[in-house]
Amino acid sequence: MNKPIKLTITGAAGKIGYDLLFRIAAGNLFGPDRQVEFRLMDLAREDIQKKLTGISKELEDCAFPAVAGVTVTGDPREAFDGSEVVFLVGSKPRTAGMTRKDLLSDNGKIFKEQGKALNDVASRNVKVLVVGNPANTNCFIAIKNAPDLDKSCFSAMLRLDHNRSIGQIAKKLGINPGEIRKMTVWGNHSSTQVPDISYCENNGGRIEGQIDKEWQRNEFTPLIRNRGTEIIALCGASSVGSAANAALCQMRNWYSGTPEDDWVTMGVPSDGSYGIPEGYVYGFPVTCKDGKYSIVKGLEPDEYIKKCMMLSFEEIREEADMAQELLN
Ligand code: NAD
Ligand code: LMR
Repeated sequence: MNKPIKLTITGAAGKIGYDLLFRIAAGNLFGPDRQVEFRLMDLAREDIQKKLTGISKELEDCAFPAVAGVTVTGDPREAFDGSEVVFLVGSKPRTAGMTRKDLLSDNGKIFKEQGKALNDVASRNVKVLVVGNPANTNCFIAIKNAPDLDKSCFSAMLRLDHNRSIGQIAKKLGINPGEIRKMTVWGNHSSTQVPDISYCENNGGRIEGQIDKEWQRNEFTPLIRNRGTEIIALCGASSVGSAANAALCQMRNWYSGTPEDDWVTMGVPSDGSYGIPEGYVYGFPVTCKDGKYSIVKGLEPDEYIKKCMMLSFEEIREEADMAQELLN
C-alpha cells in the first residue's frame, strides 16, 4: 500500500478551508482509497485552535476511509513538515469596495513567513497552491522566500477564472460545460485578467466562430473579470464553494495530469513565454504530466489580447514593487 500523502491546509478554520477539507477527505482529490495525513493549520489564537479541534472531531465523525490522521496546529513549521501537497488559503478575504490588491499589506507577510517555513521543512517535491489573495503576488512572495525549493513547486489559483469562463461559454452556447476544452485565462487573478476563448473547442470544433466578438469583449470579459465582486455584493462575503472547487480542480490536474488534447489555466512563474518576464507569477495555459506543469507554447494571441496581456502583467509588476520588502 502507498504511504499516506502528507497534506496541509492553511486557514483550515476559515470558510474555504472547511469546504476543501471535507471534499478532499471524501476522496475528491486523490480518490476515496488513497490515504491522506491531514495537517490543519490556522492562527495560533486559542479560540481558533479550539475551532480547528472541533473541525478535526467532525472529520472523525465522517469515518472517511481515506483519512490516515489529523494534526491541528498554529505553527507553520509543524504544519509543513514533510508536506507533499499544500493549500495556502489562510489570509484575509476582501470585502465590498476593496480590490484584491488592497489585501497585500495584510496578507503579503503571511506568505513571506510561510514561504520560509516551506523552504525549511516541506518535501523537496511539494506542490504548493496559493489561494489567498492577491494570489499571483502572494505566490511570488512565497517563491522568493523559498530559494531551496524549485519554483515549479508553486502555483497560484487562476482556476476559478478558468471555470467561470467555461461556465459562461457553455451557458451562451447551450452546451454542457464538460464539452469545452482549451480555455485560457492570461495574467493576474484580478480585474485585469484576460479570458481568451480563441483556442476553445467543443464537439463541433473551434467555438470562436460560434460566438460573436462583440459579446466576448463587451459582456463575457467584464463578467468574468468582475465575478468575484458580484459574488461579494450578493453574498456579503467572497466566493467559497466555487473557490474550494477550483482549488481541488487545479491540484487534481497538477497531481494527476491533464487530459489528452486539453489544457488548464494555472498561475505559474513565467519562463519568458509570450513576452512575460521570467519569474513573475502569471496565468498561462498549462498541461500537466507526472506531477509537473508545462506552459503551452506556440499560441499566437491577436494584437488586442496581447495588449490586454501586457496590461495585466504591468499590474503584477506593480504589485511586486509594492511587496518589495517581503521578497527576501
Ligand atoms: P476566511 O476569513 O473565511 O478564512 C481565512 C482563514 O485564514 C481564517 O480562519 C483565518 O484565521 C486564517 N488565517 C489568517 N491568517 C493566517 C495565517 N497567518 N496562517 C494561517 N491561517 C491564517 O476567508 P476565506 O473565504 O476562506 O478566504 C481565504 C482567502 O482566499 C482570502 O484571501 C480570499 O480572498 C482568497 N480567495 C481566493 C480565490 C482565488 O480565486 N484565488 C477565490 C476565493 C477566495
Ligand atoms: C473570487 O474571485 O471570487 C475571489 O478572488 C474572491 C474575491 O475577492 O473576489
